[in-house]
Amino acid sequence: MGEHEDALTGPDLAAGIEISSVSPNQLIAGHAFGEPVLLTRIDDNWFAVGGTCTHYGATLADGVLVGETIRCPWHHACFDLRNGAATHAPALNDLPCYEVAVEADRVRVASKRDPGQLRAAGHQDRGARAPEKVLFDSHPAAGPVSVVIVGGGAAGNACAEMLRRHRYRGPITIIDRDADAPYDRPNLSKDYLAGNAPEDWLPLHPKDFYRDQSIQIVSGVEVQAIDTGARKIRLANGSEKGYGALLIATGATPIHLQLAGAERIQYLRSLADCRTIIEKAKSARSAVVIGGSFIGLEVAGSLVTRGLHVHVVALEKLPLERVLGSELGELVQSIHEEKGVEFHLGHTVTGIEEGHVLLEDGTRLEADLVVAGIGVRPSVELAEGAGLAMDRGIAVNEFLETSAPGVFSAGDVARWPDAYSDARLRVEHWVVAERQGQVVALNMLGHRVRFDDIPFFWSAHYDKVSIQYTGHVDHWDEIRVDGDVKGLDCAISYMVGGRRRAMATINRDRQNLETEVEMEKELLLKPPPPQTIPQETLK
Ligand SMILES: Cc1cc2nc3c(=O)[nH]c(=O)nc-3n(C[C@H](O)[C@H](O)[C@H](O)COP(=O)(O)OP(=O)(O)OC[C@H]3O[C@@H](n4cnc5c(N)ncnc54)[C@H](O)[C@@H]3O)c2cc1C
Ligand code: FES
Repeated sequence: MGEHEDALTGPDLAAGIEISSVSPNQLIAGHAFGEPVLLTRIDDNWFAVGGTCTHYGATLADGVLVGETIRCPWHHACFDLRNGAATHAPALNDLPCYEVAVEADRVRVASKRDPGQLRAAGHQDRGARAPEKVLFDSHPAAGPVSVVIVGGGAAGNACAEMLRRHRYRGPITIIDRDADAPYDRPNLSKDYLAGNAPEDWLPLHPKDFYRDQSIQIVSGVEVQAIDTGARKIRLANGSEKGYGALLIATGATPIHLQLAGAERIQYLRSLADCRTIIEKAKSARSAVVIGGSFIGLEVAGSLVTRGLHVHVVALEKLPLERVLGSELGELVQSIHEEKGVEFHLGHTVTGIEEGHVLLEDGTRLEADLVVAGIGVRPSVELAEGAGLAMDRGIAVNEFLETSAPGVFSAGDVARWPDAYSDARLRVEHWVVAERQGQVVALNMLGHRVRFDDIPFFWSAHYDKVSIQYTGHVDHWDEIRVDGDVKGLDCAISYMVGGRRRAMATINRDRQNLETEVEMEKELLLKPPPPQTIPQETLK
């Protein structure tokens, strides 16, 4: 009996199915040897890999084939069908991969392939399969003499892993001031805060993984300075560390409110912040969330799930309107209101007292717990101190290089030239940060890969609504609605100059993913990008 036995659906592929029943490029969700398996045929080639995504377990047969890869419908991870490799985040673990036997008019999944066979197959950019164990070499034959990564969040962790996938054997050190890093930050406002997920869901990998990959994690220590000339960093404990290549992936820091009683406000960025909020929520009956941001609303939803009565106070007239438009703003507000959340929109908080939040119009809201989610600032202090070029974040070129040789930046802290929108962007998206970290790894190894992935994020509210958003626009001329927004079945296109530049969907995961693939094709048809931005010309 396999661990997935309960969830097994579709045909028993180990017993086999008739070839004539399979159309070209059809995705078949079945099972073999007690595990879910995805079987497909592309031209004359058959592929069989694990049927569920290694990120959060979506059924891959609901995804989209692109070349010899399968994209996940939920958060757009990409796997190589030839060897199961997790090539593009957010999935970090490979899929199992199976031999397929074709016998007369039947095809069957014959056996699971072993890791040795799998590593030999499927080499392409970002296509390598994760090794089980890395033999560390203090004098690596290829790549920098050593890699230091400041920040063990989405970008930093993904960079380290991708270096090892590509057989970098030199020392890799991740330094993070957060004692718990690396972990799944998006979950902090969702299932974990709601009490639906245990804390052991949060680490991105078990500790053994980093040991086996020879990735050293120095956690609970801040990096205080970078000397780009001498290629070394200084830590808060006074020690120094040299680097061959450096990634600055310091993320972002919540903006703090300045008002009377501000010391009573909780912010949510780290696991420690989340533990504090959970502790306070245990004895609280009511909460005020300040800010109608994604994180603010997710926090509101999770606190409602914990049984608190929640007020949301926000300056804007409609939550999320600036990012998603009024249609989705109204929908998200109504979903929270159905759960009992009270909105105080167009209002500001003027002070906080024991048990109460005061608004500018004299309203006093009961609040045993106050959480603010009013936005973040990129954590640029270290880069500024090192004299790197800045652009409302750390300025990087299309290879994610900063203005200093050997120094890269990725994630929430970096502003890069986005190939699809032709704008310089800095976003706060988990998948973007991880994928940038992956591209930095390749560029540290000399591959010269442009970061040109289409931005993507998701946001989840209760078990009811997950919004998927592909592309990026700050402003739009027109919004086109396809489907039924209130019925939770819609795709919203954000149009600029008559062209769709971004899409948000609810319960149309496949359409969202197909749109991302279409945007990638549009990018391929664009004239070649202008000459590389030399590091020294970064603003
Ligand atoms: C509660 C919450 C929910 C979210 N939900 C979603 C979601 O649903 N979907 C989505 O797309 N995005 C979501 N995000 C955003 C997403 O988590 C970020 O975009 C992503 O984590 C950015 O990755 P990063 O590597 O740039 O930074 P981070 O993941 O923030 O990592 C940066 C790390 O750098 C460390 N650091 C900073 N300065 C120093 C220093 N000087 N020395 C040592 N260490 C340092 C920090 O401790 C931190 O661990 C959410 C964010 C939060 C906080
Ligand atoms: S479940 Fe597949 S990418 Fe998240």
